[in-house]
Amino acid sequence: MEITLTVNGKPHKVEAPSDIPLLWALRDHLQLTGTKYGCGKAQCGACTVIVDGKAVRSCTRKAKSVVGKSITTIESGAPTPETQALRAAWTELNVHQCGYCQPGQIMAASALLMSNANPDDAAIDKAMSGVICRCATYHRIRKGIKQAAKTLPQFSGTQPAQQGGDDVA
Ligand code: FES
Ligand code: FES
Repeated sequence: MEITLTVNGKPHKVEAPSDIPLLWALRDHLQLTGTKYGCGKAQCGACTVIVDGKAVRSCTRKAKSVVGKSITTIESGAPTPETQALRAAWTELNVHQCGYCQPGQIMAASALLMSNANPDDAAIDKAMSGVICRCATYHRIRKGIKQAAKTLPQFSGTQPAQQGGDDVA
């Protein structure tokens, strides 16, 4: 079937089986390989993208279920202020190690900051606990989110913040 997905602000037509997961529509049909495959069972968070401001596991979400919604991946050329602040903090603090999990980490953290611009440790743990890092960069991820929260006002005004939250499924 033909599925039209709005990814990073642009519509894309995908000719694919009706039950194709969003992850494979992004990776195999749109060549957006920044979104990673880990477990395929909504357990690791490597495939996290943002759909209408919420963190979503793209490996188990059917592409057809997000038709008409705004999908944001790590490749977005017009990142939200939250993503910009996170990218800057990630670079400054050298958050990543091997990097495999980091697109999912940044997408999950972006959705968190969209819904809570100043998250405490408990809020960070709740939002990020499902995104596994085999290199155990958790300490730097938490530090990066806190730094991004502090610098967020510097990045505001470039794009309106979307309503966010964690709708991992
Ligand atoms: S690939 Fe692990 S949660 Fe999607
Ligand atoms: S940085 Fe290696 S898995 Fe997270």
